[in-house]
Amino acid sequence: MHDQGYLLVRSLACTNGDGIGYTEILLSRSDPEIVNQDDTFVDKNFRGRGIGRALKAANLRLLMSVPESAESRSLQTYTALTNEPMLALNRSVGFHGVDTLTVLEGPLG
Ligand SMILES: CC(C)(COP(=O)(O)OP(=O)(O)OC[C@H]1O[C@@H](n2cnc3c(N)ncnc32)[C@H](O)[C@@H]1OP(=O)(O)O)[C@@H](O)C(=O)NCCC(=O)NCCS
Repeated sequence: MHDQGYLLVRSLACTNGDGIGYTEILLSRSDPEIVNQDDTFVDKNFRGRGIGRALKAANLRLLMSVPESAESRSLQTYTALTNEPMLALNRSVGFHGVDTLTVLEGPLG
């Protein structure tokens, strides 16, 4: 991703030196206006304690501190329609739904 011009903005949650969650944003140096919120994950033993929200808030602050984000105007993400925890978390940090993507797959040949 680095070789393709992406800058990775990542925050990690740790307890006693062990990683228990992370979130990642990808910023394209050639097209910084729309930034992509990529993976977010919290270990299932630590969910429901505000770690996911704290990670997203911390990573957004980190994004704003990166000089390459000066021209960034919006953040995009995608989530399965059945992922209630992530949909609720995203809404609570300011995302709103703009489109619905249908993914189809089948065998080749
Ligand atoms: C989505 C995920 C990161 C949330 O992490 P978390 O640390 O449990 O989230 P938080 O405790 O910060 O909760 C933040 C908000 O999310 C929502 N939420 C969290 N767990 C929820 C649940 N089980 N059901 C519905 N909403 C939930 C709530 O709105 C919550 O706010 P509130 O506590 O004020 O009500 C975590 O569930 C996870 O890692 N899931 C598996 C990976 C995944 O699906 N990643 C996203 C792929 S797009």
